[in-house]
Amino acid sequence: MSAGALLTLQGLRKTYNEGLPNAEEVLHGIDMDIAAGEFTALIGPSGSGKSTLLNIIGLLERASSGLYRLAGDDVTQLSDDARTHARHATLGFIFQFHHLLPAFTALENVMLPALINGDHATVESRARAAGLLDAVGLKDAHRKKPGELSGGMQQRVAIARAGAFPAFGARR
Ligand SMILES: Nc1ncnc2c1ncn2[C@@H]1O[C@H](COP(=O)(O)OP(=O)(O)OP(=O)(O)O)[C@@H](O)[C@H]1O
Ligand SMILES: [Mg+2]
Repeated sequence: MSAGALLTLQGLRKTYNEGLPNAEEVLHGIDMDIAAGEFTALIGPSGSGKSTLLNIIGLLERASSGLYRLAGDDVTQLSDDARTHARHATLGFIFQFHHLLPAFTALENVMLPALINGDHATVESRARAAGLLDAVGLKDAHRKKPGELSGGMQQRVAIARAGAFPAFGARR
């Protein structure tokens, strides 16, 4: 395990339906480090466990055993509430389906992580969301609703939103 790793997995295992006759071990002891700023792609055949691993890394699912350290903290044994908090503070997701809220503008969708975090719609959070939208080439689309945008533009709003989690700015 390297000291500066943003994310460390050690001996990570996942078994679905543990203890039942249909138990299936899907992840068989994964060791992995990802450093801050590193770009990592996870590739493998269908059914090999990519989504399972991402769900565990994203704190949406629990590993059966092994260690998971995120931003210096052991998150393996956290309570559900603490996991929700850690997920919200440190992780951004871009899903295959963008999951934007249709009644909100692009800008408001990008501001959502901050709003959920209890921050009010300050000038700062608005400016930050605007900067993220500008960075993905959507300078002229801040006030548009998802239904008024192309598929690729919607996905770019989701990319901007994934960068809007509270700890993101703090790490830079
Ligand atoms: N909730 C679940 N309960 C039981 N088994 C599951 C569950 N989710 C996934 N599996 C099984 O775990 C294995 C890995 O599934 P996973 O979805 O992680 O694969 P994947 O690599 O993402 O595949 P794909 O490329 O098709 O998306 C599969 O055999 C699948 O049937
Ligand atoms: Mg998958």
